[in-house]
This record gives sequence, C-alpha cells and structure tokens, in this order.
Amino acid sequence: MKTAVLAFHPHLGSGSRVTHRLAQAAQSVDGVSLVNEYQLYPDFHIDVAAEQETLLQADRIVWLFPFYWYSSPALLKQWEDDVLEHGWAYGSDGDRLHGKEFMLAISIGSPAEKYRPEGEFAVAGKDLLTPFRATARLIGVDWQQPFLVHGASFISDEDLEQAAQQFALRLQGPGSETAATPPTTTTAN
Ligand SMILES: Cc1cc2nc3c(=O)[nH]c(=O)nc-3n(C[C@H](O)[C@H](O)[C@H](O)COP(=O)(O)O)c2cc1C
Repeated sequence: MKTAVLAFHPHLGSGSRVTHRLAQAAQSVDGVSLVNEYQLYPDFHIDVAAEQETLLQADRIVWLFPFYWYSSPALLKQWEDDVLEHGWAYGSDGDRLHGKEFMLAISIGSPAEKYRPEGEFAVAGKDLLTPFRATARLIGVDWQQPFLVHGASFISDEDLEQAAQQFALRLQGPGSETAATPPTTTTAN
C-alpha cells in the first residue's frame, strides 16, 4: 500500500518535537512518502497539479499536523481550498479520490480530559474534527480512525517514543488500527 503523509507544520525541521518525531516514524515504514508542505510552500502558493498527482499515486492519504486554535495550521486550509477542486475532488465527475483511505494524525497540546463537554474547553474533541470528517465524506475517501497524540505540549520522551512506534504500526497496513492504544495516544471516530 502506498501512503502519502502530508505534513503541515510551520517549523517541522526546527521548532517541532512531536510532529517531527511522528514524521520520522512514518518515514521508517515501507511505502510511505512524506511531504513537508510548509517547506514546499512557505509563501502559500501551492502547486496544485503536483499535489493532486501525489494524491492520485497514494492508496492512503494522511494529514499530519499540530492542533492550532482547535483546528489545523493555516497552510492546510489553503491546501484544501486550492487542491480539492470542484470537478476533481467533489461535484459531478469529482471522483478522483474516491475509495482511498484517509487518516488524520494530530499532535494536540492539551490533554484529552480538557476535550470533554464537562472539561475545560467544554467541547468533545471528536466534535472539533467534524469539518475534517465532512470534508472526507464529500471527497469520497474512506475515513480511518484518527491518530491523536494528546498532551503533546508536555509529553515525556518515553511517551513520545511510544506514540511514534504506535503511529508506525498504524501505517504498516490496513487493519493495524486495531493495535493497542498507548496511554498518551487517544483515538476518536
Ligand atoms: C498557534 C498555536 C495554536 C495552538 N492551539 C492549540 C489548541 O487549540 N489546542 C491545543 O490543545 N493545543 C494548541 N496548541 C499547542 C500545539 O498543539 C502543540 O504545541 C503541538 O501539538 C506540539 O507539537 P509539535 O512539537 O510538533 O509542535 C497551539 C500551539 C500554537 C503554536
């Protein structure tokens, strides 16, 4: 299976600890190619044809990013606006991504307890992923259980290593999402 991991972190090579480690883990898996989107498009001028070709070549698409303002870094939004074109990704004849597996992999600064209706943020974490899920549905991809690393702002080296190994396992093939979930990693449908 060919997997395209599209990483959207403004400082993947320098300021990132968690996303960087997950990207490294992904690259250790056969069949995975990593795209560092901020490195390619620091000015937000996205090469739509190149990105669409990357998607066409993949059986599984992963968006890897840190959670920013209860959502994604800005470049991912721009990427969606530009790359997921009408008549290509959705709409009549917009079926190019149909049937591909699709997974979110998100580094989330705060712990999972805060992402509950009764928690500090007064909202369930999975509800915050609704726009992504709706997008996945519209473009006809097969939504996989998201890979979430909560408490990323203060994660220990040991827990980060465990999360990285778990991420690599998830990417090793279809069905690996049934593998055990480590304490630092929570998943949501
Ligand atoms: C601009 C910005 C916005 C952020 N917004 C959130 C947020 O809404 N919720 C949250 O839990 N963490 C938030 N964080 C924390 C990041 O999720 C955390 O720093 C990141 O996941 C750590 O991964 P990294 O080491 O790859 O940067 C934010 C961080 C930044 C810089």
